[in-house]
Amino acid sequence: MDRKKVTIPALHAKKQRGEPITMITAYDYPGALAVDEAGVDLILVGDSLGMVVLGYDSTVPVTMDEMIIHTAAVKRGTKFAHIVGDMPFLSYQADAREAIRNAGRFLKEGGADSVKLEGGAAMAPIVKAIVDAGIAVMGHIGLTPQSVSKLGGYRVQGKTAGAAQQLLEDARALQEAGAYAIVLETTPDRVSEFVSKQLSIPTIGIGGGAGCDGQVLVFHDLLGYFDRFSPKHNKRYANLKPIIVEAVKQYVDEVHTRAFPTAENSFAIDDAEFEAFVQQARSAGARPDGQRAEEGEALGKIY
Ligand code: KIV
Repeated sequence: MDRKKVTIPALHAKKQRGEPITMITAYDYPGALAVDEAGVDLILVGDSLGMVVLGYDSTVPVTMDEMIIHTAAVKRGTKFAHIVGDMPFLSYQADAREAIRNAGRFLKEGGADSVKLEGGAAMAPIVKAIVDAGIAVMGHIGLTPQSVSKLGGYRVQGKTAGAAQQLLEDARALQEAGAYAIVLETTPDRVSEFVSKQLSIPTIGIGGGAGCDGQVLVFHDLLGYFDRFSPKHNKRYANLKPIIVEAVKQYVDEVHTRAFPTAENSFAIDDAEFEAFVQQARSAGARPDGQRAEEGEALGKIY
């Protein structure tokens, strides 16, 4: 198939045609090579990096420098997908100038095609400022993990009529500010569908149900690579963690039993060259075969 680089107009055309949009996170070069080959529309270098790659308790500690390093790695492995750089906590909330500079770093240093940031109507002026600076922005509302403490935990958002109305207003404010798409995270399916139908820009759900214009999942969740927990919204398409543990156990065992490496994994030297080397080494005082170094001999020579 003749694949082309995915553009924002192509994503908007998909919404118009009612064709679902696909997004997945990736954080490194081999991950990007794999998901790009699989044919996703968008790769999100998510700040979920903090939890599934860096081992933080939340996304809050993630820094701009960490995001840039991983975005650049993903860029090197991507040919076709549109790359979205996720703006980390406090890289955009304080003021528009700082937000523009940090969004610009994702494009200039990371090679991203656009950025994503969390928040609804309150963040609309920041979204507008970044878009006015020439940088495409994806919004993110519903469960916004950077505000997990304020939200009181990882809970479903928009469950009351009032909260659903707020969600709709947030989505409209982001669209008005120039966002090209919006992530709806952990929102009731009927609310997500209603909101999606009110917008001309696509929604991309994670726990948002089938009525969103697209779907996104976290790479490690989808592949069962990070198995501490699997959120309800996730579907595991593979179970990599036990496969990795089993393979590494087998390797450890084969090293212990000297089943690895074999000649197949080793490099040879010509007989004549090796003989000459041994003669040379022996005349310079090397021990005969089979005689082991006295304990401490080597250390004694070094120190
Ligand atoms: O950081 C991330 O992976 C995200 C997705 C959950 C949408 O923001």
